[in-house]
Amino acid sequence: NERNSRKFRHKMLFLSFKIKNILHDMKKFWIYFTIISYSSFIDKISAQDLPLIPYPQKVEIKSGYFEIPKTISIHHSFSKSKNDKISFTFNLFNKANIIFIKNSKKNSQITFGLLPPKIEERHQDFYVIKIFPKEIIIESESEKGRFYAINTLSQLFSYYQAKGSIPCMEITDSPKFQWRGMHLDVSRHFFPKEFIKKYIDYLAMYKMNTFHWHLTDDQGWRIEIKKYPKLTEVGAWRARSMIGRYKDDQYEEKKYGGFYTQEDIKEIVKYASERHITIVPEIEMPGHASAAIAAYPELGCTGQQIKVAEKWGVFDDIFCPKEETFTFLENVLKEVMHLFPSKIIHIGGDEAPKTQWKTNEIAQALIKKEGLKDEHELQSYFIQKIEKFLNKHGREIIGWDEILEGGLAPNARVMSWRGEDGGIAASNLSHEVVMTPGGYCYFDHYQGNPDSEPIAFGGYTSTEKVYSYHVIPEKLTEDKKKFVLGSQGNVWTEYITTPEQVEYMVFPRITALSEVLWGTSTDFSNFKIRVQNHYPIWEKLKINFNKESINQPLNLPKK
Ligand code: ACM
Repeated sequence: NERNSRKFRHKMLFLSFKIKNILHDMKKFWIYFTIISYSSFIDKISAQDLPLIPYPQKVEIKSGYFEIPKTISIHHSFSKSKNDKISFTFNLFNKANIIFIKNSKKNSQITFGLLPPKIEERHQDFYVIKIFPKEIIIESESEKGRFYAINTLSQLFSYYQAKGSIPCMEITDSPKFQWRGMHLDVSRHFFPKEFIKKYIDYLAMYKMNTFHWHLTDDQGWRIEIKKYPKLTEVGAWRARSMIGRYKDDQYEEKKYGGFYTQEDIKEIVKYASERHITIVPEIEMPGHASAAIAAYPELGCTGQQIKVAEKWGVFDDIFCPKEETFTFLENVLKEVMHLFPSKIIHIGGDEAPKTQWKTNEIAQALIKKEGLKDEHELQSYFIQKIEKFLNKHGREIIGWDEILEGGLAPNARVMSWRGEDGGIAASNLSHEVVMTPGGYCYFDHYQGNPDSEPIAFGGYTSTEKVYSYHVIPEKLTEDKKKFVLGSQGNVWTEYITTPEQVEYMVFPRITALSEVLWGTSTDFSNFKIRVQNHYPIWEKLKINFNKESINQPLNLPKK
């Protein structure tokens, strides 16, 4: 009996041991199973939450991981200069963490290739990235496509470097809009050459391709023109500057100014072109011309010596529409064309009060001689004359939407800033347009509650507001939509005095606009996660970004 019971106990013990083992195995299996399902869950999440901005058109997560080595070897047959270009594209997001060596195919981790022949219509900037466990293949048909591919890969490296590996995936991508721009006003405040290059890098980081450089205005002429040295000797300097809010009428009593030499400009144009960015220079006319008229008073309507403007705002001083003025502008534009290869030149055209033209003999005589109806038609005549000159030299003009008033020049593009109406009107006339309505695209506006933000121009354009922008106006009929080239963020600098403040106004709003223009903006809450994943990159690059902007509401709550 005892023996039996002992046997029985033994049996029981053995059984319980067995059950424990099974349970343990099951637990192991369960944990294993959970890990597997969790990791596939992670993969699913990362398909949407990959830290990519602008988000690519298509991402497919595959199984496996590519381990990020200390040294990335690249197989390619590019020249030294192209090799450098690849390196700095990587370095936009990865400050010197990766070393590049030209390598033979057999032990390279990144291979560049051409796309297989076209099956269907493809965008010229189209690219494919295939990440396998042992190698990465990039395919594109243009250098620009390759540039964007490396940018995307660089964002992935930057994010996954700390984790040690990147999930395998396939990305196919191309942009939606052809004008993906940022503007910078360097007249109200001047920013040194080195910062302009940084600014261009910021555009490149987010796959922007157009830098609209606002070079002249009432408060300072910033481009050296050899034929007219006084433009920078006199026009680049103001005796004092407004500080604080406009209504307080306070000044800093200190000479302020600066300009870019033609050598500086050549260097910057080259820098931009290496990053596939076109610089569209803007020379303002017929208004916003105080600095030019201060340098050469004979170009104005009063003939009197005026000052380079010390206040912000709009001034009555305007170019007088006489032969001498047109000769001057054409000579200026000749030098501008020599410096900037851009097909499109911005000729301003905004906010030109007609007060002085109304009483100016030359202006009135010209209205009579040309059979013009009024001063608005005179503005149109002015712009058309400049357009003809630029067209003759193979260039085309773009102007702010006021150039519609009095009749649009035959080949002009229009930049719609006073809402969407100018863009709609020009598209309906079958002219190409760039949409920059203030409510979505003015980055000099507040991006948070004005009570807790540094002083800004006014308005309210939160990051979420930018992200909500639909570039093609709803009112356009289907056949006119093709005239919308894209959009840009405008950075007017009355209240932006330093490079750090430019960064603060631009980051993170540039990322929202970048995704709108790439055509992949959908869900703001998803975008928000991705933007925050870029914060460490910006911190590493010492970019002074606005950490609160992303949490600000679409519209300011009514008080
Ligand atoms: C503009 O904002 N004056 C074009």
